This record gives sequence, structure tokens and C-alpha cells, in this order.
Amino acid sequence: MSKEFEAVIFDLDGVICFTDEYHYQAWKAMADGIGVYFDREINNRLRGVSRMASLEIILERCDEKLSDERKEELAAQKNELYKKLLVQMSPADLSDEVRNGLNELRARGYKLAIGSSSKNTPFILKQIGLDGFFDAVSDGNNITKSKPDPEVFLKAAEMLGIAPEKCLVVEDAIAGADAAHAGGMKAACLGDAAKAGAGDYNMTTFGDLLNIL
Ligand code: BG6
Ligand code: MG
Repeated sequence: MSKEFEAVIFDLDGVICFTDEYHYQAWKAMADGIGVYFDREINNRLRGVSRMASLEIILERCDEKLSDERKEELAAQKNELYKKLLVQMSPADLSDEVRNGLNELRARGYKLAIGSSSKNTPFILKQIGLDGFFDAVSDGNNITKSKPDPEVFLKAAEMLGIAPEKCLVVEDAIAGADAAHAGGMKAACLGDAAKAGAGDYNMTTFGDLLNIL
């Protein structure tokens, strides 16, 4: 175990598993339903962002001003479609690289937590066979502020009983890396966030974590 870190807080979507395509399909169906343009590039802007904040980004292209009630209805509609797509996820959606990496980090003595904006976190963890695996799960159900606010990571650190500066956050979203930094934590990034150089460590693959920790 490195002296610098005692715990690792993982984002879920885009780090532990890949739900991007399901989010895209569900938002696309919702946007088509109200005649609002939506594409994969806009979908990329939703990474790490809460459900309602994602809807606001999509509605930038909507000429009509919608009531809060209508927005809630559209977000619920998207979530119903999204949950139907999540049902097809299974432990086969957890790669060997991620599974082995998590087991190795646990064997090295690190506390492991989830820090995700998603309210569907418990369901997704169950689908991929990680229900009960993590020492703490902080997710969209116990926060009031979306990344880049650090709330979700600070709550995870608190649940673990470990000081924020002893936690390393693993993220694929720039908003997530910013949230880690705002909470006084270092970030190891993958995907988009790594390409943008948003992390203290910018990795090409999950397994690179084993060289950092
Ligand atoms: C994040 C995703 O993990 O969760 C975002 O990167 C998503 O794209 C957010 O909007 C909220 O997800 P959910 O499942 O609560 O709608
Ligand atoms: Mg993510």
C-alpha cells in the first residue's frame, strides 16, 4: 500500500462499467419524442452530470420553456427507458481487468468505495455482481449537488472514515476530476478526462492503477 493513499473512490459509469450507450439511447428516445435535436456529441457532455442537469443540457436545444413538472416527467420517462436497458447487464459486463484490479487493490489493503452521480447505482452494482463488494457506496441517492461539486466524494470518504487527502478518485469525466480536486483529493483519470489531462494521473487503461497505488 502506498503511503499517500488509504482508499480509492471509483466513479461507476465509464470506470467500473459502461452504461454510456444505454444513457444515449434513452435520452435520444426522449429527445426524439419532444422533437429536440440530440446526438452523441451532446451525450458526451452529460458524462458525470446528474439526471436533471443532463436534461437541462438537452433542453438547451428546445425553443419552448418547460415547467418543472414537465421536466420531472421527461426525466422519469428517460429513466424508465434506461432501466429497461440496464436489465440486460450481467456480471459479464464487468471486465476481467476491472475485477482483477479491484481484488488486487483490496488485497493490498485499500478501502474501496463508489462515488457516482447515478441514482441507479445500487441496481447497476447488483446487475454486474458487485452488490455488497464496496466498503462504501455514495451515489445520486445521498447527494444534493452534482459533480463538479465534491459532495459525493466527501460523503464516500466520510462513510469510509478516511481523510479526503488520503483518497484517490478514479474518474472518466472532467466534471468528476474537478469534483475530486474541489474535495482536496487527487484524481486518476480514464477516457475523456484523461485525454483532456484533467487528472493528477492520466491513464490509458484501468489496470494502470496498479502502478500508481
Ligand atoms: C452518471 C453518468 O454516472 O450518472 C451521467 O455519467 C448520468 O451520464 C448520471 O446522467 C445520473 O444517472 P442516473 O442513473 O441517476 O440517471
Ligand atoms: Mg463516469
